[in-house]
Amino acid sequence: KKFRLAVIPGDGIGKEVVREGMRVLQHMAEESDGNFSFESDYFPWGCEYYLEHGKMMDEDGVEKIKDHDAIYFGAVGFPGVPDHVSLWGLRLAICQGFDQWANIRPVEFLPGVPRRLNHPNVDDLNWILVRENSEGEYSGIGGRNFAGRGTGNEVAVQSSLFTEKGCERIIRFAFDLARTRDRKKVTSVTKSNAQQYGMVLWDEVFARVSKDYPDVETDQWLVDAMAAQFVLHPEELEVVVASNLFADILSDLGSALAGSLGIAASANLNPERRTPSMFESVHGSAPDIAGKGVANPIGTIGSAALMLDHLGLKDEAVQLNKAIEETTRQGILPRDLGGSFDTVDVTDAIIKNLAKV
Ligand code: NAI
Ligand code: MG
Repeated sequence: KKFRLAVIPGDGIGKEVVREGMRVLQHMAEESDGNFSFESDYFPWGCEYYLEHGKMMDEDGVEKIKDHDAIYFGAVGFPGVPDHVSLWGLRLAICQGFDQWANIRPVEFLPGVPRRLNHPNVDDLNWILVRENSEGEYSGIGGRNFAGRGTGNEVAVQSSLFTEKGCERIIRFAFDLARTRDRKKVTSVTKSNAQQYGMVLWDEVFARVSKDYPDVETDQWLVDAMAAQFVLHPEELEVVVASNLFADILSDLGSALAGSLGIAASANLNPERRTPSMFESVHGSAPDIAGKGVANPIGTIGSAALMLDHLGLKDEAVQLNKAIEETTRQGILPRDLGGSFDTVDVTDAIIKNLAKV
């Protein structure tokens, strides 16, 4: 089968790590004896594109990639373009344009990676964050009192949007995901003591939906306490479901606990499969290390594994994850994991290990 990929490397290290991810994917396709192949269309959207054309992507950008089987994304954002312009102009435009309402972010220990978390109860951390990806705190609703700008009295409003349908679909998604795992448990994270409308609605939907899943254990936390729980009792976590902002923050924390932001993979899914889903690492464009060839490609290559799984290439997804694990087990680590290997070296090792696993 031939899969059409829309590849958007974006900015900074996004370009460097997507190049590596594509190298892995093309290699796997070549080795598949014609079983599957990728036809990739590259889109040069991002901050450089913005500086040249005054927009982050083409006006009909979403239209241009709507028939692809999946989107493979690097990262967006670079000094010179305000971050809210770059994020909304490209990444959020795609997530929301394609109604990719479920963002899943696995957090896993990799063998051979020095952990930042040496917890007595945890030697094999493996949980999954489910992020509401279409509304919540990133609804984009609000405005600024520009008339007041520069007066010292400007007012800005930033509203969160919680719909019953939006809460229900992501919470159900989390429960369904929990059922596929050995330990069936869903932890819901809100701040419904302080955010008394939207998050209380979320809690009520959670309580209602949980009744349909009597076989799944549940737990509810406030986000501040959950941040501590991540560090103190990670063994209590299995599937964690949270709003757009909270899960965004918690996923960086989770990946740092497992070693580095550089290893965290993510999938922005349209679970109904009406529109393409997008696969990207959790990290951003890391301007501080861009252009040096030292970025950790594991998060983006792990996202390629999530993409393979989504495309129905389940065995290949497992194989790729095993090759990543074998590579870190061998001590072939990039700098952010305490090693000295470059982006390209780590990828070469992963490609080599594909034959071994
Ligand atoms: P960041 O994730 O780009 O970097 C945070 C820190 O982690 C930096 O010190 C960086 O060097 C390090 N790091 C990140 N990924 C790494 C990797 N693969 N290998 C080694 N080290 C890595 O977050 P930051 O600095 O807050 O944002 C930089 C830009 O990225 C901003 O413009 C921001 O808006 C954008 N951004 C974009 C995202 C996306 O496109 N999905 C997500 C997060 C941020
Ligand atoms: Mg983030």
